[in-house]
Amino acid sequence: MKMKKIAVLTSGGDSPGMNTALRAVVRTCAYNNIECIGVFRGFQGLINDEIKVLNTRSVRGIINRGGTMLYSARSKEFRSKEGRIKAFENIKKHNIDALVIIGGDGSFTGGMIFQKEFNIPVIGIPGTIDNDLFGTTHTLGYDTALNTVMEAIDKIRDTAISHDRLFFVEVMGRDAGHIALNSGIAIGAQEILIPEQNKGIEELILSLRKSKKAGKTSSIVVVAEGDKTGSNVFELAKSVEQKFPDYEIKVSVLGHMQRGGSPSCFDRVLATRMGVKAVESLLDGDFSKMVGVDQGKITLTPLKSALKGKSKINSELLRVSEIMNT
Ligand code: F6P
Repeated sequence: MKMKKIAVLTSGGDSPGMNTALRAVVRTCAYNNIECIGVFRGFQGLINDEIKVLNTRSVRGIINRGGTMLYSARSKEFRSKEGRIKAFENIKKHNIDALVIIGGDGSFTGGMIFQKEFNIPVIGIPGTIDNDLFGTTHTLGYDTALNTVMEAIDKIRDTAISHDRLFFVEVMGRDAGHIALNSGIAIGAQEILIPEQNKGIEELILSLRKSKKAGKTSSIVVVAEGDKTGSNVFELAKSVEQKFPDYEIKVSVLGHMQRGGSPSCFDRVLATRMGVKAVESLLDGDFSKMVGVDQGKITLTPLKSALKGKSKINSELLRVSEIMNT
């Protein structure tokens, strides 16, 4: 089938680079004389018919902007068959031939179900700061988020040193520790707590004792949001406080600032390459895939594997961080 019209949407948690990828999708469509349709507010916008034709001018000035010009949503309605039927009616109404989904695992799961039910070709571009998809070493926004976290913790370190304090800094990553592990190494964390490792409080306390003994007067512990060492970072800090009554302990939750901001050079280049590849794959008749990057090369991974495979924590990084906190 010759593609004439491709729709694109951004869905789930936003990430820096989504706009850049959108720009690339729109311009690659224009380059190939295909009409590009922007769907606002993710799958919910598809249900509500929030649709607009995008041309090369519609995406000017967004290459460097965080967030997503198409807005994003997590649609409950799309999880129901009735919701997806409504969405497909709009696909038919606008004669849309294929769908580019820029989002994370939840968005890809929805996209796969939609493709199966209505036979509409879909392709995914991984847009999430969590870097938790199998089939790509980097998701869009991950590099920017790492730099944001690093800069924020560098600032926290200044005050930690001035006041001889121990800081627990919580970073994002509901199920994955990539942000915590990499930013933790970059800022010289005493300990890094991630859901994939589950160190336990005893080991944390031992490590903090060791660091005190070695003469450290301040320390940073980076905690991934999904880590289960304490029921939450505040409880964890309280438990540690009981063991170190003379140590002033503070908690800092970085929160959604990690998801915003202008995409890094790395993310912009990656987003542009991924946007081009997404459209070209659809034109080649290669669907149900996620665009990724591996060893500098743009790759395609079946959506199914991208979701099932789970990105693995690099054990070398765990070892490196262990060596660094001696
Ligand atoms: O983008 C992924 C993520 O950053 C997770 O790490 C986090 O748990 C989640 O988004 C929170 O997103 P929201 O507040 O939009 O539900």
